Amino acid sequence: MAMKLYLDTANVAEIRELSWLVDGVTTNPSLVAREKRPFRDVLQEICAIVAGPVSAEVVALDRDGMVREARELAEVAANVVVKIPMTEAGMQAVQLLSREGVHTNVTLVFSANQALLAAKCGATYVSPFVGRIDDAGGDGMALVEEILTVYDPYDFPTEIIVASVRHPGHVLQAALLGAHIATVPYDVLKKLFGHPLTDAGIARFLKDWQQIPQG
Ligand code: G3P
Repeated sequence: MAMKLYLDTANVAEIRELSWLVDGVTTNPSLVAREKRPFRDVLQEICAIVAGPVSAEVVALDRDGMVREARELAEVAANVVVKIPMTEAGMQAVQLLSREGVHTNVTLVFSANQALLAAKCGATYVSPFVGRIDDAGGDGMALVEEILTVYDPYDFPTEIIVASVRHPGHVLQAALLGAHIATVPYDVLKKLFGHPLTDAGIARFLKDWQQIPQG
C-alpha cells in the first residue's frame, strides 16, 4: 500500500483544489484560527469535500471535557477523526473514545514512549511533529523511525501521521521509512510536483517542436 498524503490545512479553497489527490485532511486550532470562521462550519464544509479522514482537535484539557468535545465533533460527519493532545488525561480520553468507536489522532507527540502509550490506549493515529523537533535542534525523522520500530513487533494497528512537515525532504524521508501517512501543508504539497529539470525539459521540447516545418 502506498503512503497516504493528507493536507495539513483548514482552508477550504486549498482542500477543494487538491481534493483529487489527497487521502485526508488534518487541522489544528492554529490552522482553524487563520480562517476566521466558526469551527463547526469549517469542519462541516471540509468533511463534505473530502471522503477520507478529517482530523479536528479538542481544546479542553481535562478528560471529561475532551470526551464531551470529541463526541460533539464526531457527530459532525462520519469521517471526523478527533485530535487529542498527548497528555495523561488525553490518553484516558482516547481509551474511552476508542471503546466507543470514535477515531482518534494523538497529537503533539515528541517521543517514542508517548507514541507507545497512544497505541496502547487505542489511538487510531499518532502524530509526531517532525518539523518542530528539527526546529529545536533534534532529528524529527529519527523519531518516526523509532516509532515504526517500536510498533512493528506488536502489530499495533495505530497509523503514524508524519506531521509538522516543513519541506519536500520530510515527505520523501517519510516514504523511505514506510510511514503510513504524511500530512503536508499546501505550499509543500505543490512543491512535490516540480523539478527545475522538468521545466527545462518542457521548454526545450516546445522550442524544438516549433522548428518542425508546418505541413
Ligand atoms: O497539524 C499539526 C502540525 O502539522 C503542525 O505543524 O508547522 O505548526 O509545526 P507546524
